Amino acid sequence: MSIIEAINRHRSIRRYLPDPVPEDLLNEILAAGVRASSSGNMQTYSIIVTRDRELREQLYWPHMEQSMVLDAPVLLTFCADFHRMRRWLDLSNAPDNFDNFMSFMIAAIDATLVSQNVALAAEARGLGICYMGSTLANCDEIGRILQLPPNVVPVVGFSLGYPDEDPAPRDRLPLDGLVHYEMYQDYSDERIREIYTDRELRGWERYMSFPRLRRLVEESGVQNLAQVYTAVKYTRESHHEFSQTVLDYLAAQDFMNNGR
Ligand SMILES: Cc1cc2nc3c(=O)[nH]c(=O)nc-3n(C[C@H](O)[C@H](O)[C@H](O)COP(=O)(O)O)c2cc1C
Repeated sequence: MSIIEAINRHRSIRRYLPDPVPEDLLNEILAAGVRASSSGNMQTYSIIVTRDRELREQLYWPHMEQSMVLDAPVLLTFCADFHRMRRWLDLSNAPDNFDNFMSFMIAAIDATLVSQNVALAAEARGLGICYMGSTLANCDEIGRILQLPPNVVPVVGFSLGYPDEDPAPRDRLPLDGLVHYEMYQDYSDERIREIYTDRELRGWERYMSFPRLRRLVEESGVQNLAQVYTAVKYTRESHHEFSQTVLDYLAAQDFMNNGR
C-alpha cells in the first residue's frame, strides 16, 4: 500500500479483536513513529505502551469510560517530555531553560507528530487506532496512574489493535474551505454555510443513527449539528473545567516558569 493509499483509508476504529499486537510489529511501528521530525531533534516526547489489563482498567475512568481502553490490546500515550532532556542538561552542566510554556508547546508538537507517524505506520500494517481526547482533558489523573515525573504531560493517546469493525470513512470539509493560497482569505457568511452544508447533513445523520446519541440530542432539544457541538458535546462548562485541569497540571509539572 502506498503512503497516500494508507492515509486515504484511515478511519477511527472503536471495536477491536482481542488478538495481541506481536512484539516485533509493535516495535516496527514505534520505530517508524520516531522518524518524525522533532524540534532541534531533541525528541522531547515519551511513548507509554500500556498492555497490562489492570492498568487499562485504572485508565478506563479518566478516559471517560471509552470501551476501546479495555477492548484494544494496546493503549499508547504520547507525552510531552522535557524530563529526560533536562536530566541530560544537568549531567552536562548545561543551562536549563525548559521550565516554561514554550517548552511544553515544543514537546507537545513533537509528541503529536510522533503519534500520527505511529498511527499511519500501524494502519499501513492492518492495525486500527482511535485517538482519545481524554488523554489531555484528564492529563492529571492519567499522569498519576502512569507515574509521570515532573516535566512530562500526556498530550495525545490512542487505542491500538486489530479492527473488529469496518466503518465507512467519515466526511471531511471540502479542501477549498480549508486551504488558503498565499494569504488567509476570510470567509463570507455564505461561504461558511457552503463549507458546512454537507457536514450539517452527514453529521446530523450520524448522530441520529446511534440510539444513545439520538436520545441525548432529543433530550437536549438542539436543532442542528452546530448546536450539538457546543450545547451537548463541548459545553462551556466542560471546556472551562478541562482548561483548568491542563493549566494546573502544567504548573504542577514545572512547565509554567516555576524556576523564576
Ligand atoms: C485529538 C483527538 C481526540 C479524539 N478523541 C476521541 C475520543 O475521545 N473518542 C472517540 O471516539 N474519538 C476521538 N477522536 C476521533 C475523532 O472523532 C475522529 O478522528 C473524527 O471523527 C474523524 O473520523 P475518522 O478518524 O474516522 O476519519 C479524536 C481524534 C483526535 C485527533
